[in-house]
Amino acid sequence: PMAKELFGLNELSEKIRRTYGLRKVVVVPGDCEASPLTKRDLGREGAKALLGVMNQEDTVAVTGGSTLAAVAEELNPHASVSMKNSWFVPARGGLGESVEFQANTIASTMAKRVGAQYRLLHVPDLLSDDAYQSLVQDRNIQEIVDVIRRCRIIMHGIGDAMEMTRRRRLDPAAAEEIQREGAVAESFGYYFNEQGEVVHRMITLGLRLEDIIRTEIVIGIAGGKDKATAIHSVLRFGHEDILVTDEAAAVEICRQI
Ligand code: F6P
Repeated sequence: PMAKELFGLNELSEKIRRTYGLRKVVVVPGDCEASPLTKRDLGREGAKALLGVMNQEDTVAVTGGSTLAAVAEELNPHASVSMKNSWFVPARGGLGESVEFQANTIASTMAKRVGAQYRLLHVPDLLSDDAYQSLVQDRNIQEIVDVIRRCRIIMHGIGDAMEMTRRRRLDPAAAEEIQREGAVAESFGYYFNEQGEVVHRMITLGLRLEDIIRTEIVIGIAGGKDKATAIHSVLRFGHEDILVTDEAAAVEICRQI
């Protein structure tokens, strides 16, 4: 039964890899929505995938969320590569989420765990136009935003669009608008429709779409059956290199392709 199961997971990952032209797909057994152990496995595989592409002087931008927090928990110092000249930074401002799931917290935890450096971006996730206009003038903020935009690796979570409007406590009118626009996925502060097109963006500081597009290595990590449509949408956006997911999501993604 063991061998058969493994073969099944390999088949799933290979089908997803080929369909979306990815460099690598890792599928852990189980459903991370149903089991905290699966979430931990997902985090562990995410940590492995990240260390597998990092070099000695790297800049890694990370998003927030519970899945990235699981990656941070599972990150251990690289066996052979010193990370003391590498940097972890948040992909965007993120004071909207609860502290343990904020990108700042995750970037600093990851850096401490592997002996790397970190810099934080202390601005809210969701900015008003006025706040944005004044914050982009700030020299310190400009400096860290430049570091973020020059990252070589991005590791990001993927969420269901409506779920994320609730978690971010968007007002009902804004949430309705996002729904009307056909958003099914949210990632990096962008909302995507089923075709993988950006239909809505939040005013936020940090990574922009053009930065994501030119970043050398983009690692998406998300699991759970309910996220299959969202993952599919972000994969269709077309700029992912590595996907780390679980069996429940992978089975459902394969059903949709
Ligand atoms: O808010 C940060 C973020 O990475 C979102 O972009 C994404 O939709 C969400 O978190 C994923 O969160 P979780 O891993 O908890 O499902």
